[in-house]
Amino acid sequence: MDEHKVYQDLPEEERHFRENFADIMSLEIFNQSRTWMQEYNKLMSYYRCAMMEVETKLNVLNEEYSLRYDRNPINDIKSRLKKMPSIKEKLERRGHPFTIESVEENLNDVAGVRVICNFQEDVYTLVNALLKQDDIILLEKKDYIKHPKPNGYRSMHLIISVPIFLAKEKRRMKVELQLRTIAMDFWATLEHQLNYKKDFELTDEMRNELYLCAEFSAQLDERMDRLRSMIPETHIV
Ligand code: GTP
Ligand code: MG
Repeated sequence: MDEHKVYQDLPEEERHFRENFADIMSLEIFNQSRTWMQEYNKLMSYYRCAMMEVETKLNVLNEEYSLRYDRNPINDIKSRLKKMPSIKEKLERRGHPFTIESVEENLNDVAGVRVICNFQEDVYTLVNALLKQDDIILLEKKDYIKHPKPNGYRSMHLIISVPIFLAKEKRRMKVELQLRTIAMDFWATLEHQLNYKKDFELTDEMRNELYLCAEFSAQLDERMDRLRSMIPETHIV
């Protein structure tokens, strides 16, 4: 007998279970997994909302700045949501369980927003303006521009908490915000590519060369900032 015919009269959800999962798990486990996935997806959607909130705040600042000074501080904004395998791997590497509560409690970078600024000064202007907003809570700040990493990496890293407004509740979510100049982004992108080549370890000489490239790029940013400061900012509003 055609098995699909047997399941045809069952409710949609039960048919889905019988056709795809009955051979590999019990209905109880199937229901538990499904509830877990629904909760997980809900949490991920909250993180997406939080990224949208942060992006909007940044776009508003960019817009206002461009009105006032006829120039945009932001070159580009890229957002990313950490994928499930990376979330699981990071939690387990740090000895935490892979549960919904644990994701929220132990990870700061599920939602990541990267802001590419035109000038180094723009990074500080944006950070100051953003942190002045009374609904943003600063949880962590790492200024790798003033204090670069030993390999030469430069960027401003913030962990902030932002409220998202849902139909029935207001909820705070954590977002990792990275702000860097075009030059810093150029270096970090290429450094990442070079460092994560399969089956190849960078030699000390190559690492040193990469460090020197970071120093050059820092000098480039400083010279660009100096050039920019020579142009009077036309204060329109
Ligand atoms: P994690 O939780 O593992 O991210 O550790 P952490 O919070 O101590 O890291 P940190 O805030 O210093 O950096 C986190 C992110 O910054 C990374 O996921 C990268 O996106 C970026 N980053 C940090 N260091 C480097 C680096 O040396 N090179 C590049 N290309 N990116 C870096
Ligand atoms: Mg981090």
